[in-house]
Amino acid sequence: MRKHIYALGGAGLLLSVSMLALPAQELTGELPDPPEFSAQSEPVFVSVSDILEYKALPEYNEPDWVTSKYVDAGTLPPVGERLPKEPLVYKAANMPDGIGVYGDTMRHVIGGRPEGWNYIGGQSQGWGGIDIGLSECLTRTGPLFTIKADELEPMPNLAKSWEWSEDGKELTMHLIEGAKWSDGDPFDADDVMFYWEDNVLDQNVSPLNGGTPETFGQGTTLEALDPYTIKWTFQEAFPTQYLYAMAYGTFCPGPSHILKPEHPNYSDNTYDEYKNAFPPEYLNIPVMGAWVPVEYRPDDIIVMRRNPYYWKVDENGNQLPYLNEMHYRLSTWADRDVQAVAGSGDFSNLEQAESYVEALRRSAEDDAPARLQFGARTIGYALRMNLSGNGWGEPDAREQAVRELNRDLDFRKAVTMAVDRQRLGESLVRGPFTAIYPGGLYAGTTYYDKDSTVYYPHNLEAANELLDGLGLEDTDGNGIRNFPEGTANGADVEITLLANTDYGTDTNLAEGVIAMMEPLGLRVIANFQQGTARDDMAQAGQFDWNVERQGAEMVSVVQGTSALAPTGPRTHPFHRAGTDGTLDLLPFEQELVDTVNAFIATSDNAERAELMKQYQQIFTENVYSVGLTQYPGALIINKRFANIPAGAPIFMFNWAEDNIIRERVYVPEDKQASYELHPETLPGAPGSDGPM
Ligand code: GLA
Repeated sequence: MRKHIYALGGAGLLLSVSMLALPAQELTGELPDPPEFSAQSEPVFVSVSDILEYKALPEYNEPDWVTSKYVDAGTLPPVGERLPKEPLVYKAANMPDGIGVYGDTMRHVIGGRPEGWNYIGGQSQGWGGIDIGLSECLTRTGPLFTIKADELEPMPNLAKSWEWSEDGKELTMHLIEGAKWSDGDPFDADDVMFYWEDNVLDQNVSPLNGGTPETFGQGTTLEALDPYTIKWTFQEAFPTQYLYAMAYGTFCPGPSHILKPEHPNYSDNTYDEYKNAFPPEYLNIPVMGAWVPVEYRPDDIIVMRRNPYYWKVDENGNQLPYLNEMHYRLSTWADRDVQAVAGSGDFSNLEQAESYVEALRRSAEDDAPARLQFGARTIGYALRMNLSGNGWGEPDAREQAVRELNRDLDFRKAVTMAVDRQRLGESLVRGPFTAIYPGGLYAGTTYYDKDSTVYYPHNLEAANELLDGLGLEDTDGNGIRNFPEGTANGADVEITLLANTDYGTDTNLAEGVIAMMEPLGLRVIANFQQGTARDDMAQAGQFDWNVERQGAEMVSVVQGTSALAPTGPRTHPFHRAGTDGTLDLLPFEQELVDTVNAFIATSDNAERAELMKQYQQIFTENVYSVGLTQYPGALIINKRFANIPAGAPIFMFNWAEDNIIRERVYVPEDKQASYELHPETLPGAPGSDGPM
């Protein structure tokens, strides 16, 4: 067993020897299979070339009102001049309901709040698909759920094609030619290079979804050869994996003509001033996405209107999107479910298990306004411990003492064994939804291997013994263990737990964990924060423990791969570099890094599968994080929308907002409703206070 650990050299050997000293095997147990739960609709598997191509069409069309009110009046160039030389063309045969018609609105409801529009500078727009819709990226991965498994490769997007050099170390990408930002400014390599040089490589900027140099490989360089050609140079040969990193959210350039003048390298601004230069009130920020923000009312709504320069069309030459408007009601995530089910909202990713039963009941009724479709178990939560021992988040003495505990395998084992996952899952929802989740890759996903999954079942007695063994005794008899004499003044072991109050599920699970740590003699104190504040604290390493929903790397593995382990100083969710800029990796973490890097460096499928087995084994054996529960999500969409692809998951390579290819979504004429708040208007000038 664990042959691979020896194969990985010195660090692995060390670990294996230390493992021998512990009765690890006795603590592990049989992992129950997840309850049967089949996805309710299957994708139609196709090739990328079935979905789209880039080509010039004999003629182009747009909504009549755009021509009559703007083009004829001379305030907007004709559609043919606004489109690139060869637009991205969606093929009709792949559209579930065929070529669409213009009109109507998709009414989203979200729980987040916008910080501002500087997405590449690190600002959130409130999630729920806003940023996904505003940003277009070099490649695209959301719709890959529908691509044949043996042809899986990111779809072209702003990069319309690419080729590798013979030695596989250079990748030349061709950008779409003649595409424009929503204000008419040309999109070209300047935008790409501004993103790379002044946002990714500049360590003072943290793009929202974590684009760091390591996301694209150690030593990787990027240069512009001409306005529409860029060249990557990698240390590895054929690292096709990085094509996934060039998708949402790590390579979506921003409008350099607007952002660059505010960047500290080109102005007197500080980095904070750069980040905050485009508050939510700044409207009409130029985007490459299909809709532009034209109205913002705090705690009420963000309205977006069609981008007159959008660079994608259907096969009949109709400029996309079909939908004229997008709404983002600023409410709560739970309200998103309620409204989508009731028909006052149009879209929800049903992901908070507490509302499943009610949502299912209402959606099953004949007159239900929305359809609800469950996918695979791709929503998962874990308790993540801050593993930096060298200062990330600037811990005080107590926090530092907790970090030392977090870094101790016996401690992590004790914590994982104190969690009763069956009860935790059932406390969210009864029925066949939740499954026991030991941590690591999710059961049912491509790279999961049950035999490589080490599971420490609920065992309070053994958990307590492990903590006794660490010298954590309750010296003052108050029911809480104390740090040993000389550590944190021998005080009670108190641990803070960061969680997001925007989601009921996050705080429910966190409360469950807090309660389950009590019989272990650990006092866990809730640090419950609203989304943005929570995200900032998590990013800054200001947490002892953190309960959170995990990212796409745990589902698809190929998306967000570099975040599977601390492959760079700022790539990982719970272990980043300390104050001196270095990572103090535990030996098994180094093995995880080596495994992930080996995965990135090979495109051999058998080898990749083997490497992910190793990853899973090292991860779960060492309780890298404490898995809590995993369950399926359901996509809720109002029945009036057409072109929703079968089997669109709420979360896989990306969220459903991207998976459904929403620029192609439409409402048939006889079902169109009059929800548009700014009918027959287009986005105005950047920074101006409304549509034109
Ligand atoms: C939030 C929501 C998800 C999804 C994403 C999109 O995280 O909880 O369901 O809408 O935003 O970014």
